[in-house]
Amino acid sequence: MKQEIAVEVEKLLAQMTIEEKVAQTAQIAYTQIPKEKAEEYARKGVGSFLHVLGEDAKRLQDIAVSNGKKIPVLFGIDAIHGHCLNKHATIFPTQLSMACSFNRELIKEMASATAKEVSADGLHWTFSPVLCLGRDIRWGRVAETFGEDKYVAGELGSAMIRGYQGEDLSVDGKILACAKHYIGYGEATGARDSYDTEITYRKLRSEFLPPFEKAVEKGCATIMTAYGSIDGTPCTADKKLLQDILKTELGFNGFVVTDWDNITWLMEKQHVAEDYEAATTIALNAGNDMMMRTEAYIETAVRLMKEGKIDESILDNAVRRILTVKMKLGLFENPYKCLDKSFIGAEEHQRLNYELAKECVVLLKNEDILPLQKTEKKQKILVIGCNANAVRDMYGDWTYFSHPDPNFDAEPIRPYVTFIEGMNKVKDVLNCEIVYSKGCGILENDEEQLKQSFAEAEDCDLIIYTFGDNIYQTGEGKDRADVSLTKAQAEVFDKLSKMGKPIISVMIASKPMCVPQIVEQSKAFLTGFNLGAYGGLALAETIVGINNPCGKLPISFPYHVGQQPCYYNYLSGWHCDSYVDTPQKPLFTFGEGLSYTKFCYSSLAFNKDTFTLSVKAKNVGDKAGKEVVQVYFRDVVSSVMTPIKQLIAFEKIYLQPNEEKECIFVFTGKDFSLVLSNERRVMEQGEFEIMVGSSSKDEELIKIEFKQEQTLKIK
Ligand code: GLC
Repeated sequence: MKQEIAVEVEKLLAQMTIEEKVAQTAQIAYTQIPKEKAEEYARKGVGSFLHVLGEDAKRLQDIAVSNGKKIPVLFGIDAIHGHCLNKHATIFPTQLSMACSFNRELIKEMASATAKEVSADGLHWTFSPVLCLGRDIRWGRVAETFGEDKYVAGELGSAMIRGYQGEDLSVDGKILACAKHYIGYGEATGARDSYDTEITYRKLRSEFLPPFEKAVEKGCATIMTAYGSIDGTPCTADKKLLQDILKTELGFNGFVVTDWDNITWLMEKQHVAEDYEAATTIALNAGNDMMMRTEAYIETAVRLMKEGKIDESILDNAVRRILTVKMKLGLFENPYKCLDKSFIGAEEHQRLNYELAKECVVLLKNEDILPLQKTEKKQKILVIGCNANAVRDMYGDWTYFSHPDPNFDAEPIRPYVTFIEGMNKVKDVLNCEIVYSKGCGILENDEEQLKQSFAEAEDCDLIIYTFGDNIYQTGEGKDRADVSLTKAQAEVFDKLSKMGKPIISVMIASKPMCVPQIVEQSKAFLTGFNLGAYGGLALAETIVGINNPCGKLPISFPYHVGQQPCYYNYLSGWHCDSYVDTPQKPLFTFGEGLSYTKFCYSSLAFNKDTFTLSVKAKNVGDKAGKEVVQVYFRDVVSSVMTPIKQLIAFEKIYLQPNEEKECIFVFTGKDFSLVLSNERRVMEQGEFEIMVGSSSKDEELIKIEFKQEQTLKIK
């Protein structure tokens, strides 16, 4: 098929005018222009629209395939944790929440379900997965990442790409994936969204490129450039990044789309171009193939081409990539590829959503209080806190509340289960009465409401305190310098903690918060970040033991925002290994998460000739449970500094009480490699340690050493 497509593409390309070729490299933002203008662009043969749904998309496609060269339009959308910009679609946990499951298969299924729902809306492309690393929780978009680890981002991002694209893109219900934001977007100094990222190319290749390498290996159809810059060169302007590394070295054969209006951004924000001519020239020469949102690009590029100021082969290469992807998608045969509308919000997707949410719940502290047991005497349980009944804030960003036309007060659409609704569904497991009080807002308190809440609290046997953040505090351009409890919430918790009642704290937030006081004074602490439509039920079922929690943290929880960044795979060498006023270690670290059962590890063995690792995991508790077997390594002495440990494998297993399973992992030299100052990747000779266990905490790992006799060149 590849040869046929190549021939077809060349034939079509040869017939296209400069105007038609430039139009193909333009993506128009539907919500930013009048409908008539959109139809005019469709007649002109633009390559793509974003943020248009359903019937509006069909109308534009009708126009595109009946005008000019009749090239079908690609419709893109930010379906990044379900097709959430459609009110009736399935709203899954956010990426950071999904990552807590460490479950490749469930995430692949989630993406496959999302692809069907996007297709049912007549759309072909999602701007997902996000492969940025979330290493500083002050950044507004941490919730969109798979957390702080490059191996997790690569593995779960690949699972998503497989789910969206399947083995054959031309099959109905399969859509284009888009690995983004290329590259290092989350590493901006001060965690300031889109600010400069002062990393070297060595660091970029070592820490931030691996997830994108895996995405390219998996055949990801598109890649989106990042808003930001690497050491002063905007990603959109960086030929070494886009052409030399991504397209030439990694062999990426899809197409690169800029982020929102990044051509204008080069002028107005980053000041590396004085006008649209300069910005357009920079963007095309650097290797961007499709320009998102910048209408001025179209007539500017046509003029520059006709004046011979940009080599037409650059434009041809961009159009060639775009047409090739459209043909692989089968758009020329079937421009609509529209599944039946019944897939949107389908029952089987909701069941999957519920299963996934349960695996995303992370239990971080449990002083023998959970799961709650049925009591002889009827108990009164107070659920208090604003997020206990807040659908929008339980969902997090990139849903119909926040995009593409924000309506934060929109009426939530069933099905969904908030936390208090979940507790009322499960209360018969206990002998109890559930009382709910909103307690306080995120940012302000209602004194009357508070008085009533505290009275309820005085009269109850157990307090379940829910806290977190809201949609105004998370997302693009919403970086936070302070990620501790807001004053309003701290005031409420402080008062509750003085009542001498047992407190179970539940965090419903988009990312970690610095809450040592809550962890210290609660008997139990659990979260799962934005757990999606069934998050409230998953949390409630965990509290009463219907669900045995198996989630693990994909991101570290700092004590204090001043510790940021405090990721687990740090380099040694900090002079005093601690601040004067704050512990060095985070509140909770990567890979942590408790179960209602216990797993033990033994028989760790490594064959250094075949690079094969074996280990036995046993459920030594009295409940069946799921475990994430985590494999880390350390390069004991290396010619560039390397982290004290790095994750190189994980496997999710399910064991009955007393059941034991042998897990086998086969590695290559690349898994143990590092990037030298000359940007070459090698596995150096010398001592290595391999550690296996339930989290990245030293006390939870068993270890084995091996000696690598000679250095291996990786590439
Ligand atoms: C935004 C985001 C990007 C998104 C795009 C289209 O600004 O940075 O992640 O896919 O625009 O909505």
